[in-house]
Amino acid sequence: MLPADLHEKAKNFLDEQNYAAYTPGDHEMWGMLFKKQMEILKTRACQEYLDGLEALNLNEERIPDYEEINAILAEKTGWEVVVVRGFISPDLFFEFLANKKFPATAWIRKPEEMEYLEEPDIFHDVFGHVPLLSNPIFADYMEAFGKGGMKAVKLNALDQIQRLYWFTVEFGLINTPNGIKIYGAGILSSSGESIYSVDSAIPHRLSLDLERVMRTTYRIDEFQKTYFVIDSFEQLFDMTKPDFTPLYKKVAPLSTVHW
Ligand code: PHE
Ligand code: FE
Repeated sequence: MLPADLHEKAKNFLDEQNYAAYTPGDHEMWGMLFKKQMEILKTRACQEYLDGLEALNLNEERIPDYEEINAILAEKTGWEVVVVRGFISPDLFFEFLANKKFPATAWIRKPEEMEYLEEPDIFHDVFGHVPLLSNPIFADYMEAFGKGGMKAVKLNALDQIQRLYWFTVEFGLINTPNGIKIYGAGILSSSGESIYSVDSAIPHRLSLDLERVMRTTYRIDEFQKTYFVIDSFEQLFDMTKPDFTPLYKKVAPLSTVHW
C-alpha cells in the first residue's frame, strides 16, 4: 500500500497485474526468456542476485504473481512491488523508492521483441530488479537512493543522480573472488549484454568513481562503452552515504564525457 499522499499523486500511473489475463503464450515467453538468461547468468551474475531469484521462487514455469513476490519481500526487507503502466516521472519514481515501493510494469514483450525493448516489461522489472530487493544491503541502497533522488531533483542535479542510477542499479558490475559479475538489472535482463559486459575485451571496466559517473552520459540504445565496478554492496552503500550537495556543485560546471 502506498501512503495516501503518494497514492493521490501517482493514481494516474497505477495499474493492476490482472494475473488471469496472461495467455499461455505470455507464460511461454517468460519461460523462454528465463531459461535463456539462467544459462548465461549462472556463471556471470553475482551470488546475491542468484540467491534473490531463489528466495523469490522465480522460475521458468510461469510469470511471477506480484502477490506472492510481495509476501516474500515484505518478510525479507519490507519492500513492495507496485504495478504501474509504464514510465513515471523521475520525482515520483524517487518518492516510490524512498517509501520502499518498487514501481514495476505487468505486461510482457511479444516474440518479435525478444532482444530489445523501448520500455521496461515484467521481465526487465521483475527478473532484473526484484531479486536484489530481497538483499538487505541492496534494499537499503535503493531506499537511500530514493531519498537522495528527491533531494537531487530539488538541487537541480537530476542528470547527475540519473547517471548514478544508470551505472549502478541498471548497469553495475561487482568484483568477486571468482571474477567480475553482474548486478545491474539492465544487464541481467539482456542476453546480449550479459555476455558482452563480462566476456568482451572491448568495454572499459573502471572502479566506481562518483565524480566520473556523474560526468558520464549514457546511451540507452546500445551496449555500454564503460561499466563501473564495485567491490561489494557495503562499499556502494558507504560510498554514496555522504551528502552529495558539494559534489553536485563541483561537477555541474565541469564537462561531461560523451560516449
Ligand atoms: N548521499 C546522497 C545525498 O546526499 C544520497 C544518495 C544515497 C544518493 C545513495 C544515491 C544513493 O544526496
Ligand atoms: Fe530498470
